[in-house]
Amino acid sequence: MSLKVKNICCIGAGYVGGPTMAVIAKHCPKIQINVVDLNSERIKKWNDKNLENLPVFEPGLDEIIKKCRGLNLHFSTDIKKHIESADLIFISVNTPTKKTGVGAGFASDLKWIEKSAREISKYASGNTIIVEKSTLPVKTASTIKEIVYSSNNSSHNKNFHILSNPEFLAEGTAINDLENPDRVLIGGENKNAIEALSNIYLNWIKEEKILTTNIWSSELSKLIANAFLAQRISSINSVSAICESTGADIKEVSMAIGYDKRIGRDFLDAGPGFGGSCFKKDILNLIYISKHYGLDEVANYWQQVLTMNNWQTRRISRIIIEKLFGTIADKKIVVLGFSFKANTNDTRESPAINICQELLIEGGNLFIYDPKVDPLQIDIELRESMQGNNEYHINEGSWNFTNDIYEALTNADAVIILTEWQEFKNLNWLKISQIMRRPAWIFDTRYLLNPKDINSIDINYWRIGYGNTNLDHN
Ligand code: UDX
Ligand code: UDX
Repeated sequence: MSLKVKNICCIGAGYVGGPTMAVIAKHCPKIQINVVDLNSERIKKWNDKNLENLPVFEPGLDEIIKKCRGLNLHFSTDIKKHIESADLIFISVNTPTKKTGVGAGFASDLKWIEKSAREISKYASGNTIIVEKSTLPVKTASTIKEIVYSSNNSSHNKNFHILSNPEFLAEGTAINDLENPDRVLIGGENKNAIEALSNIYLNWIKEEKILTTNIWSSELSKLIANAFLAQRISSINSVSAICESTGADIKEVSMAIGYDKRIGRDFLDAGPGFGGSCFKKDILNLIYISKHYGLDEVANYWQQVLTMNNWQTRRISRIIIEKLFGTIADKKIVVLGFSFKANTNDTRESPAINICQELLIEGGNLFIYDPKVDPLQIDIELRESMQGNNEYHINEGSWNFTNDIYEALTNADAVIILTEWQEFKNLNWLKISQIMRRPAWIFDTRYLLNPKDINSIDINYWRIGYGNTNLDHN
């Protein structure tokens, strides 16, 4: 029997659920889409008339929301009502790493997935397609299936089809990634359900880009795609350290190796370490699964990607402290960028958190600027990271926020670029060199600035992956 989707519900109005449903709504005007979330504050922001207040900043998202919201795209906390009316339900809730219990520190916490499955079991009207959008450990579909069919209610009369359809969007480019994906992956058993979901995507994506696999391959592919991407960053970051020691230039090395088609040019930017909600969590999960199946060497292999990432972040804080004569107590340090990458307001696992933490422990006075991150969010992240840190009170560093970069930089000892926001490139670096306290330092952890622009200015300049040949500055 063919299945026709007229009404979609998405549980979870986060960085994945919000933009993904917005793009589906844009291309499928005949489908009604309800994005539900238990967080009423978040839903309020999605419904805010002022599009500046959307809870997720993504270039291009506001235009789609403006066009579709209230027509075929709705945001609500009424989970029951919208599950009831849906033919297809995306589960897009968060799956953080477990903090306690079995698998703590490695396994994904599936309590929200389980909760969603129970709600679907209870409220869905039957013959419903359930789509896993969240990144999940392999075999989660079995758990969902068991829950939806075995809950203590009338679900035995209902029919569910479970599909895996992982999201490959990257924050900051989410809308473009959703509009022009490299591929759409659908894993599942039921041909009609797969066809129904494919038909949605076929509204704007070519058929050859829609891949179908068995459900376990689909679940695993998402974890592996993220693990491979993260591994590439750890690899290039390891090379950045070699460049700094040898005098090679990481930009040139990346370019030289990237020309090889087998390697490819993308994802070869050295930096302060990868952040974001996925890479670390997914690799921890991969390590957990590998250990579970007795594959200790495999687990150790992937562990090294995380070890390298932590090392890179720490390495950078150490370099900053060392260059500032080994002590930053009472020094004024301006931090440019706090999000985990440019073009997003997301701070989850941002390397800025650990770097700022280390500088605070050493007593630095930080002035933080980010064009999109809410200062309240930075405050929460730093407070959390300093909690229980006994060392902190010894040196008493401080943090403040600034909207005026030049004012903050007046008499500052150092400026650290932590996120590659393009606007930092266009700052007047000559003026900056004149208002800072001498000897002043620029630390460019993203290799964002053009060395030609800075080399002509009288200021100390450290950039990632570049061996400084100027003996005076070593
Ligand atoms: C994504 C992916 O979906 C997930 O696979 C990945 O592991 C983490 O990132 P994301 O959209 O970025 O999730 O997460 P988040 O922004 O935290 O949004 C999840 C939303 O689900 C939150 O707004 C939360 O309130 C909501 N939620 C969670 C529910 O509505 N119901 C629940 O039971 C649990
Ligand atoms: C990632 C995956 O790319 C995406 O497919 C998946 O759906 C979710 O996880 P995201 O975390 O949003 O997306 O952003 P991504 O662009 O992958 O960047 C992750 C981190 O790696 C960022 O901190 C970024 O700054 C860093 N990075 C990325 C580098 O340091 N160098 C690079 O060359 C690329």
